[in-house]
Amino acid sequence: MESSNSKVITCKAAVVWKAGERLTIEDIQVDLPKSNEVRIKMLFASLCHSDILGLNGNPIPIFPRVLGHEGVGMIESVGESVKNLKKGDIVMPLYLGECKECPNCKSGRSNLCHKYPMTLSGLMLDGTSRMSIQGGQVLYHSFSCSTWSEYTVINANYVIKVDPQKISLPHASLLCCGFTTGYGATWREVHIEKGSTVAVLGLGAVGFGVVEGARSQGASKIIGVDINELKRGKGEAFGMTDFINPKDNGTSISEMIKGVTGGLGVDYVFECTGIPSMLNEAIDASKLGIGTIVLIGAGNGLTREFNLVPLLCGRTLKGSIYGGIRLHSDLPSLLHRCAKKEIQLDELITHEISLTEINQSIELLKNPHCVKIIINF
Ligand SMILES: NC(=O)c1ccc[n+]([C@@H]2O[C@H](COP(=O)([O-])OP(=O)(O)OC[C@H]3O[C@@H](n4cnc5c(N)ncnc54)[C@H](O)[C@@H]3O)[C@@H](O)[C@H]2O)c1
Ligand SMILES: [Zn+2]
Ligand SMILES: [Zn+2]
Repeated sequence: MESSNSKVITCKAAVVWKAGERLTIEDIQVDLPKSNEVRIKMLFASLCHSDILGLNGNPIPIFPRVLGHEGVGMIESVGESVKNLKKGDIVMPLYLGECKECPNCKSGRSNLCHKYPMTLSGLMLDGTSRMSIQGGQVLYHSFSCSTWSEYTVINANYVIKVDPQKISLPHASLLCCGFTTGYGATWREVHIEKGSTVAVLGLGAVGFGVVEGARSQGASKIIGVDINELKRGKGEAFGMTDFINPKDNGTSISEMIKGVTGGLGVDYVFECTGIPSMLNEAIDASKLGIGTIVLIGAGNGLTREFNLVPLLCGRTLKGSIYGGIRLHSDLPSLLHRCAKKEIQLDELITHEISLTEINQSIELLKNPHCVKIIINF
């Protein structure tokens, strides 16, 4: 790979050309950062389930594209007007920024900033890409970052510095999406009162984040639900008190959850599988009149009809992106907890690969032992 901080860089990246196809490792061109942008040399990245959705063209089929939205790297060069970041800084590139000035930021109730939004177009805020291939063909980003590339460019507001002396870089990569999303949902989207009962549908990195968040806020019962029996042990390590494997039983998930909560259901349900029918189970598993359901899982069928009659009966449904975590206002305290080893993120890392092994890693995700795969550049 050719490296220079004064020109376009040619480097390797994992490119997806068509929905559902294998990725190919290609030489791509990464432009200089424009005003308020930084170019980052990636050191570690990781895979989130949402990358698999992107690989299959969801929610928007934009190709060719460089996926990946979890990672950590070193700033290689900065564009004009960048303040507080410099060459050599170790940073996490995120998919949501925070301006602290727009109505949503000022409300203190949302992490969905109007000025620095989550972009689904695969382009930077100015509507162009910083990556190209084969002599100028536009390559789309994953949100406004792309971490499965040796180099990437991102708006400086979407970046947070990390101290490599305090937090392991693979751990920082994991905090860019999945785990933080689950953890944040219990803290920023709802406020779990001490003694509350909680159910978590789907124990991937997102679900384990929910378990950790619920435990640290004093939930008295945390019921994990997963069809993979191997998730039981890891869930317990994070503080899960009960485990339900729906394959074990003929009844519905909501009935099973009611079965271990004296028939009433739970105060909070977090949907973390992305399977549309699970939303109805989540609603039915929450307490009549007072239950809250947080929808986190994203999948293909979320636009279809749901039975909302049980919702009418006093329940609250809340959707969540990145667990409501504000990049500059909230993420530092989670990083701090991880730096103090209050949260054991090593539990999540089951595999480490190189970028060239990216296709094997997508197969690995089907392995029941697999939770998180780290790409070591
Ligand atoms: N809203 C957000 O900001 C956000 C952020 C990250 C991920 N996500 C979404 O959250 C979901 C979870 O992500 P992840 O990375 O943890 O995924 P994952 O694939 O690692 O975990 C999903 C878990 O659900 C389990 N599962 C699958 N089918 C099940 C069923 N029928 N019943 C019970 N359990 C079942 C799987 O065994 C697995 O353990 C995905 O849909 C992902 O796209 C959303
Ligand atoms: Zn804002
Ligand atoms: Zn993600």
